[in-house]
Amino acid sequence: MNPVLDAIAARYSCRSYTAEPVARADLEAIARAGVQAPSSRGNEPWHVAVVTDPDLIADISMTALNLIARHEKAVAEDCEKRVRNLFYNAPALIIVATKNTHDYTSSDLDAGLLVENMCLAATSLGLGSCVCGFATQAFRDNKSDAGERLSRKLDFPWGYEMTIAVIIGHPDGTGAQHPTDLSSIHFFEA
Ligand SMILES: Cc1cc2nc3c(=O)[nH]c(=O)nc-3n(C[C@H](O)[C@H](O)[C@H](O)COP(=O)(O)O)c2cc1C
Repeated sequence: MNPVLDAIAARYSCRSYTAEPVARADLEAIARAGVQAPSSRGNEPWHVAVVTDPDLIADISMTALNLIARHEKAVAEDCEKRVRNLFYNAPALIIVATKNTHDYTSSDLDAGLLVENMCLAATSLGLGSCVCGFATQAFRDNKSDAGERLSRKLDFPWGYEMTIAVIIGHPDGTGAQHPTDLSSIHFFEA
């Protein structure tokens, strides 16, 4: 038994949550695990906004859905029909904004490591999680000031941009891990 490998094997994208709020101590532990991730040159180019205000979560969901509806009407309608909001009614939404450090690697990579740490921490605490790329759309509508408005609400420092989000909550039911495909792994040994 190895608790890290167990959490990696147990994590899945949870898309159904109970209404039970996530304890503040758990959210703090999850956010802490996030910022303990490695980053290129140790730049830590991230701003982590932990949102549990249901009105703000609904605002971000609706703003994103409005833009998605303009480009992919069917996707937005499907989301609204199935889950009423983009975040599957999860009680906590963690928005990660990053600053482009113009380094050899992209700060998106740093954000990816951060969100996976948070997902694994959530799993280890018995919570469900799902990375939500769709959330970026709430900040990308250049025909309105919605992105700026939300960035201000979430206290993004100057130069930071919405990069990725994770939802967290108590799973409503059980989910399954995606099948493990080992065919992309190749060893080159002496
Ligand atoms: C960068 C990224 C963005 C994602 N965006 C979404 C999303 O907006 N909505 C969603 O339901 N799942 C999203 N996912 C979850 C993927 O669909 C999921 O990880 C993939 O299907 C594998 O399933 P698993 O996470 O259960 O192993 C995203 C995953 C990643 C890594």
